[in-house]
Amino acid sequence: MWRQAWRRIWGFRRRGRGGVFCEGRHQVKDLAKVELHLHLEGAAPPAFIRGLAKEKKVDIGGIFDEGGNYRFADFWEFLKVYEAATSVLTKPEDYARLTTAVLEESAASGVVYCETFLSPDFCGGRDVGAWREYLHAIREAADRAEAQDGITLRGIITCIRHFGPEKARQTVRCAVETAGDFIVGFGIAGDEKIGKPKDFVWSFDCAREAGLRLTAHAGEWGGPESVREALRDLKVERIGHGVRAIEDLALVDEIAEAGIVLEVCPGSNIALGLYDGWRKHPIGEFYKRGVKFTVSTDDPPFFHTTMAREYEMLNRAFDWDEGVFDGIARASLDAAFCDADTREKVLKRL
Ligand code: ADE
Ligand code: ZN
Repeated sequence: MWRQAWRRIWGFRRRGRGGVFCEGRHQVKDLAKVELHLHLEGAAPPAFIRGLAKEKKVDIGGIFDEGGNYRFADFWEFLKVYEAATSVLTKPEDYARLTTAVLEESAASGVVYCETFLSPDFCGGRDVGAWREYLHAIREAADRAEAQDGITLRGIITCIRHFGPEKARQTVRCAVETAGDFIVGFGIAGDEKIGKPKDFVWSFDCAREAGLRLTAHAGEWGGPESVREALRDLKVERIGHGVRAIEDLALVDEIAEAGIVLEVCPGSNIALGLYDGWRKHPIGEFYKRGVKFTVSTDDPPFFHTTMAREYEMLNRAFDWDEGVFDGIARASLDAAFCDADTREKVLKRL
């Protein structure tokens, strides 16, 4: 029943095969978009990080290739490069500049609402006072971007799985202390092969009690069982990635029935070698099976992608037309963690 309702909301329509571009004035890349899965540090352009490293006289040259892009061979090397790049972001002012750069890029890609993962681990070492200063700087930059480019930002505080449950407890304190109209959610990222969701139950319970909405990375490097555990133990309403649920179709059906939203990042999965090309990505199957999903970039410069590119590649791979993408944007806004007034405001931009 839920699935039928969902199909109505999405206005599911499919074109015949072979349509690279949608009908009408626009190409799909020009449509208004809602992005719910973006790591702020992971969205830092390599030139921005190189510039900061130069200003601070820090040598992190080893993380770039000859072309100036981030260099990594697999997910675990990606995490190391990510943390090395982040090491040059040492002041609230750095985060303000980063937020401005990231939102300019997102707005240029047609994004009108964005939720970004924010990590007190990197912003003041999980100290609540320091975190407040970083957050203030990020918010000011976000307010300027909204006035200038019509893009709204909200934050999801994220603990990092491979840093362990004790650090997550400190992180959730930062989240609880700053929960409100800007910090709207709590989540977990990092190496899914380390630890278990049940180790983080205390932190997620605290976040929920503080009124924060919940999401967890799962089913990216862990299989369907990892998704089941995140749903059962952390009681999240959205799953970051979740793509490997496809290996257990009963789970896919449960996800669809329960209305759990998958924050799908196809370009990220393909760049990291999870799937061998766009047509092989399970997002097409999720769509057919009535699973709620959103489309995001995860860490766009690392994966040489943008929201505009994600839309274009999906359009080419699955022949999805403008109506499908419009449905995705509306469904994403529905799944956003912001308050009703913000949702209403953003809806007018779609
Ligand atoms: N942190 C940044 N990107 C991530 C990803 N794709 N998976 C897990 N943690 C991350
Ligand atoms: Zn992610």
